[in-house]
Amino acid sequence: MKEDKKNMTKESTSRRPRVFSGVQPSGTLHIGNYLGAIRRWAAQQDEKESYFCIVDMHAITVYQDPESLRHLTRDVAALYIACGLEPQKSTIFIQSHVRAHAECCWILNCVTPVGWLERMTQFKAKAEQRESVSTGLLDYPVLQAADILLYDADEVPVGEDQKQHVELTRDIAQRFNSIYGPTFTVPKAVIPESGARIRALNDPSRKMSKSEAHIRGHAIRLTDEPDEIRHVIRCAVTDTGREIVFSDAPEKAGVNNLLEIYELLTGKNRSEIEAHFEGKGYAVLKEEVAEVVVEALRPIRERYHELVSDPAELDNILTAGADHARSVAEPKIQDIKRKVGFIVMGRGMVHFLLEIGLHSRLHQKIGGLQR
Ligand code: TYM
Repeated sequence: MKEDKKNMTKESTSRRPRVFSGVQPSGTLHIGNYLGAIRRWAAQQDEKESYFCIVDMHAITVYQDPESLRHLTRDVAALYIACGLEPQKSTIFIQSHVRAHAECCWILNCVTPVGWLERMTQFKAKAEQRESVSTGLLDYPVLQAADILLYDADEVPVGEDQKQHVELTRDIAQRFNSIYGPTFTVPKAVIPESGARIRALNDPSRKMSKSEAHIRGHAIRLTDEPDEIRHVIRCAVTDTGREIVFSDAPEKAGVNNLLEIYELLTGKNRSEIEAHFEGKGYAVLKEEVAEVVVEALRPIRERYHELVSDPAELDNILTAGADHARSVAEPKIQDIKRKVGFIVMGRGMVHFLLEIGLHSRLHQKIGGLQR
């Protein structure tokens, strides 16, 4: 145990801060996903060791059409890259390609009281909408904890809606560490001051949501064409007033939402923005926000179309990402298994293959032989 503690301290002081985050391929990505999460990941990938996952196993906690899940999974990968994630700097991979996530989830299930999961607000909200709830939906946050803890992530950059899940991850890590000895880094959620909760344009009392992004007027999708963006912003719900100011007042939520989008995409400060819009009407605000959004999303949309036209290249990136993710997750899951008392076999061989980078080449060879 002493040795473990020494190793963990040494490791955490000598490496760059490690970041883990992910997106569910359960719908079309929108500007909330971009501003609340992906754009921020791209901005810090030089200083931090980053792992960005496409969490397909989370997506099936509610039914997904299998063909469209495959399609959306590649789509999210393409959008990650189009938004600025660089495969040379960040590890981009599909969750189900790294088996350790499922294995770790099972082990963490066994230290997580069910009451902790029943209290999760996202679970309660989703469960209310359906007659029958899958075990996967209840267990969802434990899988998320496994994602994060397997990589000993220090930071989890997310939007506000994920805060409770990251707090639960901390609780699970601490509980496991106290039962089995120091094993996991206890991560922290990194939530931005502005853009943590981009609101639905058709109902600013609610957050913009991927599952409703197909409803016209709800969201700005990252792949929307300029005219569609202009239309959706022109129709955005505001209020009957005239004041264009940042505000927490519920009736100003629509205007505040547009101002936050403008703030994040122009990089201007709040007083400068309020001065700029002073005396102008909501029509002008909407027009200017729309143009800023159109220009910000133009390069993303163009790059996205290039990437999806070459699925083989995208798959190569995802294969390399999964290989690298496995090189971290595999030794970690072996350690976790040993901690709980499992007999761990063949560890030497797995390590050997991972270390000399043979894993993916071996796969290619086997593929070649089978053909
Ligand atoms: P997901 O797929 O719902 O959302 C992906 C990211 O986008 C953020 N986000 C928003 N930010 C601002 N405004 C919005 N309207 C908005 N909508 C979504 C989310 O907070 C998130 O950061 N459970 C996660 C996926 C996940 C994960 C993980 C995240 C699985 N394992 C491990 C971090 C670490 C989810 O469903 O995100």
